[in-house]
Amino acid sequence: MKFTPRPGILDIEPYIPGASKGGSGKVIKLSSNENPLGPSPEAVKAYKDTAEKIFRYPDGGSVELREALAKKHNMDAGRIVCGTGSDELISLLCRAYCGEGDEVLYTEHGFLMYPIAALSAGATPVKAAEPERKTDLNALLSAVTDKTKMVFIANPNNPTGALVQKDALLAFHAKLRSDIILVIDSAYAEYVEEENFTDGRDMVDQFDNVVMLRTFSKIYGLGGMRVGWSYSSKEIADILNRIRGIFNLSIATQAAALAALFDDEYIEQSFRNNSEQKKWITSRLEDMGIHVYPGEGNFILFTLGTKEKAIACLNFMKERGILLRGMMAYGLPDCLRMTIGLPEDMQAVDEAMKEFFA
Ligand SMILES: Cc1ncc(COP(=O)(O)O)c(C=O)c1O
Repeated sequence: MKFTPRPGILDIEPYIPGASKGGSGKVIKLSSNENPLGPSPEAVKAYKDTAEKIFRYPDGGSVELREALAKKHNMDAGRIVCGTGSDELISLLCRAYCGEGDEVLYTEHGFLMYPIAALSAGATPVKAAEPERKTDLNALLSAVTDKTKMVFIANPNNPTGALVQKDALLAFHAKLRSDIILVIDSAYAEYVEEENFTDGRDMVDQFDNVVMLRTFSKIYGLGGMRVGWSYSSKEIADILNRIRGIFNLSIATQAAALAALFDDEYIEQSFRNNSEQKKWITSRLEDMGIHVYPGEGNFILFTLGTKEKAIACLNFMKERGILLRGMMAYGLPDCLRMTIGLPEDMQAVDEAMKEFFA
């Protein structure tokens, strides 16, 4: 018997995560935009403390965590929905609002989860061009059709690091039809240094067609726990709550996220390390004649000029235990993306890259 999945499912390219093995010695994993400091010590302690409680079902509404998020960000907890990573929320948004005949718009080099979620829901993903590898809001507006239901903008974008300034985002929203949901994916918001920036929360407060997504996988160092959250109108939050897993966040996940949220020292240290090391390695690579795309976030995107050179560089680094991310799946075959690591990681990258170009 052959079982046929719904239309669209077989069009999904399986997602290939960042490499985690390479070389024979120590591995420096810079392929998945994780926090190089490791997890927050407070989160680890809270996680371990849940061990005796895991026979219980978790709080299905993640109430304590949502209330803590609401307090920290001055929001209404009833408009926050927690998900198993923001990945789950991207899927839920598509499942709830997009189906056959609907279009989901995103940028040419946008996060791969957007087309996966759109196709899973039976909708059609549509890419808007990103000339110069920057988010082009006019191209996005031109790509809007009668069928457009949802627009995803990652700000800053992964993998380009491109940032849309607050004024431009507001002007874009003003031109967008009010029956289209604008999802502002602010996974890397905590790392942003640009002042003319919004993570989208003020827009959610003003407009009922804006949703902001956040994650604990980046600066909060909890990629392995799978926890993200959305902030939206009460109406959209209610819809997401109807279709999410009823106990989606485990006891350990909720406890670890709650502890990480208030570990200010760890967050500050993570921000500082990223800011300093990003500047340092960018200037070292530029000194080698490499073009690094200007961008925000805990990673950089740089071009090696050709696909062949990018593959050669990726493999050369891998042999030395340094794992970078190839960008073929993102339509950037000449580029590599590198997560910003600790000072010793960045020194190892500097030395290996010099060797590559020697
Ligand atoms: C732009 C963007 N959005 C969302 C995510 C997913 O994050 P999470 O781990 O919360 O699912 C990522 C992960 O890399 C990302 O780069």
